[in-house]
Amino acid sequence: MGVQGCHVVLIKGRGRVHLAHLRLRDFRNYRFLDQDFPPGFQLILGDNAQGKTNILESVYLLTTLRSFRGVGGGQMIRHGQSGYFVGGRVVSEGEQELSLYWSPSTRQISVNREPVRTLNEFLGCLRAVVFCTEDLQLVKGAARIRRRFVDLILSQTDAAYLPLLQRYARTLRSRNALLKRVPADPLVLEGFSRELVQCGDQIMKARQRLLPKVSALARLAYRRISHDAEELQIRYEPNVKADFRLELNRSREREQRYRATVVGPHRDDVGLLLDDRGGAQYGSEGQKRSMAISLKMAQAEYLTGMVGVPPVLLIDDVMGELDVKRRSGLLPLLERSHQARGQVFMTCTEENWPRELGRRLHRWRVAEGGLSALA
Ligand SMILES: Nc1ncnc2c1ncn2[C@@H]1O[C@H](COP(=O)(O)OP(=O)(O)OP(=O)(O)O)[C@@H](O)[C@H]1O
Ligand SMILES: [Mg+2]
Repeated sequence: MGVQGCHVVLIKGRGRVHLAHLRLRDFRNYRFLDQDFPPGFQLILGDNAQGKTNILESVYLLTTLRSFRGVGGGQMIRHGQSGYFVGGRVVSEGEQELSLYWSPSTRQISVNREPVRTLNEFLGCLRAVVFCTEDLQLVKGAARIRRRFVDLILSQTDAAYLPLLQRYARTLRSRNALLKRVPADPLVLEGFSRELVQCGDQIMKARQRLLPKVSALARLAYRRISHDAEELQIRYEPNVKADFRLELNRSREREQRYRATVVGPHRDDVGLLLDDRGGAQYGSEGQKRSMAISLKMAQAEYLTGMVGVPPVLLIDDVMGELDVKRRSGLLPLLERSHQARGQVFMTCTEENWPRELGRRLHRWRVAEGGLSALA
C-alpha cells in the first residue's frame, strides 16, 4: 500500500454534492430533527444557546466522525438519554444514506443501511471544511492540532492515507507498550520498528508533498483577508531529520529512559510563519485569527481542486467576529462555492448576519432545539 501510487477518491462524477436531508435523534439539545436542505447558501439564525452550532457539529460528524469541538461522543448525547443518532442523505450523481448511532457501548456506522467495512466508505461520501472559533488553536495550540489538520486534508483526498495512519498508530501503541516492559524483547521490538519506519516514511512523504501546496493557497488567502502586507508561510517541520531508521536506532537510550518511542512523524509539527517569524509567538491576535482562517480557506480550495467539487462549508459565527475587510476576503470563497452549486451552512445571531451576502440565501431559524425555514 503506497501513498505514492495511490489515487484520489473522486466522488462519483464531477457533479455537485450536497446534504439533502439531516436527521437527528437525541443529539445535543435536539430531541429529533428531520429536515431537507437544498444546495446553496443556508443562513442559520437564532439567539444564543438555541442549537445553531449543534446543527453544524452534526453535519461535521457525518463527514469526519469527529466533533469539531474536540469532544467525545458522550457529550453529544442529549442529557438523560442513552445514545444519539445522526443521519443524512447525500445527493451527488446518486444518493447515499449515511447513518451514525453512538452510545457508550455501541457505534454503528452505515451507508445505505449496510454497515461499513472501512471508515473510508463512510468518509468518502461527503467532505466538509469547518470555520469556527476553535480554529485559533491551529495557531496557538499544540503540534497535535496542526498534525490533525494536515492528516484530515490528506484523508479527505487520498483513500490510502487513513488506513496508513491507523496502521502507524497501532504499531506505535504496541511498540510503546513493549517499551514499558523491562526488558523489552529485542526481536519483537525490531519487528515493530520495521513496521513503524515503513509506515512512517510514507506518512512523512505525503505530508512533505502536501504542505507546499497548502502553503501557497494559504498565502493567497492571507493576502486577501489580512490588513497588513505580511507573507504567511506554512512549513513542514518533521521530527525525523533525514533517516527514520537511523534516528530511531540512535534514540534507543532515550527510549529506555522515557519508555516510549521518541522519534517519528507522531512528533511532527507545522510551522506558521509571518515574514519568516513564528506567527504564534509574534503575531497579534488579529493576525492569528487571519492565519487560522487562511488555513481553513486553503483546505477548502485544495479539496475543491483535488476532488473536483467544493466541500460543504460550515461557518460557525465567524463572520460576526470579523471586521468588514476580513469578511470581504472570505466572500470570493463563498462566491466560488455558490457558482459551483456547493453548499454552505453559516450560523449567525440576528444582529450580526452579514448582509452583504445578498438575497441568494435560504434562511432558517433555530429556537430551543428546533429548526424552521424563514420566508
Ligand atoms: N448533550 C446535551 N444535551 C442537551 N443539551 C445540550 C447538550 N449539549 C449542549 N446542549 C445545549 O444546547 C444548547 C445549544 O447549544 P449551541 O452551542 O448549539 O448554541 P448556539 O445556538 O450555537 O449558541 P451561541 O450563539 O451562543 O453560539 C445550549 O443550551 C447547550 O447547553
Ligand atoms: Mg454557537
